[in-house]
Amino acid sequence: MCGVVAVVGKQNATQLVIEGLRKLEYRGYDSAGIASMSNGTLRTIKSEGKLYKLIDKSNEISNDKLHFDNSIAIGHTRWATHGNISVENAHPLTSENKIAVVHNGIIENYEILKNELISEGYDFISQTDTEILPHLFMKYIKLGNDFLEAGRLVLKDIRGAFAFVAMSLDFPNQLFASRNSSPLAIGLGEKSNFIGSDAHSIDHLTQRIIYLEDGDHALIKSDELEIFTKDKVKVNRKVINIKAELGLITKGGYKHFMEKEIFEQPSVIPQTTSTLIKNNSEITIDIDRLGFENKNTLLISAAGTSYYAGMVGKYWIEQIADLPVIVDLASEYRYRKPSVFGQSSMLVISQSGESLDTLMALRHGKELGLITNAIVNVEGSTIDREVDNSLYTKVGAEIGVASTKSFTSQLVILFLIAVALGKKFNNVKPRKIKEICSYINKLPSAIAQMLRIEDEIKLIAQNIKNAKSIIFLGRGLLYPLALEGALKLKEISYIHAEGFAAGEMKHGPIALIEDNVPVVMFLISDGNEDKSISNLQEAHSRGAKIILIADKKCIEKATFAHLKIEIPFFETDFKSLLSPFLMAIPAQLLAYHVANERGTDVDQPRNLAKSVTVE
Ligand code: F6R
Repeated sequence: MCGVVAVVGKQNATQLVIEGLRKLEYRGYDSAGIASMSNGTLRTIKSEGKLYKLIDKSNEISNDKLHFDNSIAIGHTRWATHGNISVENAHPLTSENKIAVVHNGIIENYEILKNELISEGYDFISQTDTEILPHLFMKYIKLGNDFLEAGRLVLKDIRGAFAFVAMSLDFPNQLFASRNSSPLAIGLGEKSNFIGSDAHSIDHLTQRIIYLEDGDHALIKSDELEIFTKDKVKVNRKVINIKAELGLITKGGYKHFMEKEIFEQPSVIPQTTSTLIKNNSEITIDIDRLGFENKNTLLISAAGTSYYAGMVGKYWIEQIADLPVIVDLASEYRYRKPSVFGQSSMLVISQSGESLDTLMALRHGKELGLITNAIVNVEGSTIDREVDNSLYTKVGAEIGVASTKSFTSQLVILFLIAVALGKKFNNVKPRKIKEICSYINKLPSAIAQMLRIEDEIKLIAQNIKNAKSIIFLGRGLLYPLALEGALKLKEISYIHAEGFAAGEMKHGPIALIEDNVPVVMFLISDGNEDKSISNLQEAHSRGAKIILIADKKCIEKATFAHLKIEIPFFETDFKSLLSPFLMAIPAQLLAYHVANERGTDVDQPRNLAKSVTVE
């Protein structure tokens, strides 16, 4: 993961880089660092922990010392891969205090290169894979190469998925950058140029952006930009004008971004549907374009919460459109030789559009000849740019690491795809389409009603906040919700949690039940509720603390539950078909309030990052 930013040709470059890093903390927040050059001196400031610590440190240093006037600087925010979280392992990594490099990704053959460099006399102070980069630059510059040639020789040596930026005191007005699978954007300014892991990180400096393509390398000066392919052919890449985001996004009075994003859901879902439903009754998704001229199997691939959205999508598409769906974890799909028998189309789902696993799965699908489609939030992201067709969730920036509004908006699009497929293959009658669109239009108010159970959820959170382990159960459309509820809880509260299909409990997981283990079930009377209640009963008999969040009918049946929350009334068809939307809300609120009770860092939980750009 990690975020990189660089500026050349603008005074006070370090400050401008820090502004960029603020917008990249979603890519990692284990440590941060900056390096700048002025009058033949390279100055590096690094700090363990979040960016504010680096800012404090850099302010102290600036107050202590004479103003360090600089017009070239690079910066980094880290998500640790190789080497623990420490100042030594923070970037920029340097060589002989003359060359500095910031890097995102993994250099896979670093150990061999490191041993070679050690035998040639280079000292390593970190455990990172990155440190080989400044030393390799140093080695090739000492051999008489200019910066561009030195960079090319470095690229010849290294393998892996990476994006990096280097600067050298020997070439004071130059930055060398390259990418392979990890994203890198170059911003064009007036007598200045910029680099960032995404376009947003430099949109305070320019709105004219070039995305480097895989294998590209570039030499960037204040007044000149040269881009080359991996075969050293000079190329012009397309300049894109991006819209500047409206400054930094605030918490709007909420304690955490996650809380704000949960409560935003009723207002952002209409943004998702705005371009996908016409005249309140017509779904505008072009199914033929998505690769469904004929009835084929759909392949869905994604990671984490987006994968669980895909699982819900499978259930809907099979039920509504009678079309087979395979849902594959992106990290698994890419390293298999999957059969595409009966498939014409792949759908990847990604909030960030940058998850490397999902991107690689997409490329794999493309190579196998599938038409590729994406449900994506970040427009202009790598997945958005590489896919044949994108459907945008349009929910605005999601800052909290735990996905919330992205999940429900992904569900909206999956549901609409299911209905559009159902229409195309005559499984859904035109009259029913109108009814279904009316359901979607009712969603914001239904979610708003669900949000009103927050106070009751808080009481449950207080009750289970000290549990060692929590089990989530669900059946049918609510099975993926059990998985999502457990993921959400574990990632932000650090309590061990697992989700299971209710019917699977007796095949093994039931051994985990002992006195007072909380078992949470989201339940809707959809015709299968009795089966789920029996599964719950089995856990109850073995001493579990049963927590039921359900409609009136289920609450009345499961009298044995210890803690119960009755959800508001919704008409039968609506609640059984759209139950994943309704139950996403208690799943999110429960995780949020348990974490809040335990005082964890809700928006930036340990060991995680918002955008996962390593494999
Ligand atoms: C969990 C969460 C992650 C992401 C996953 C995929 O709350 O946010 O599991 O869903 O890393 O990310 P995207 O959707 O950006 O590809």
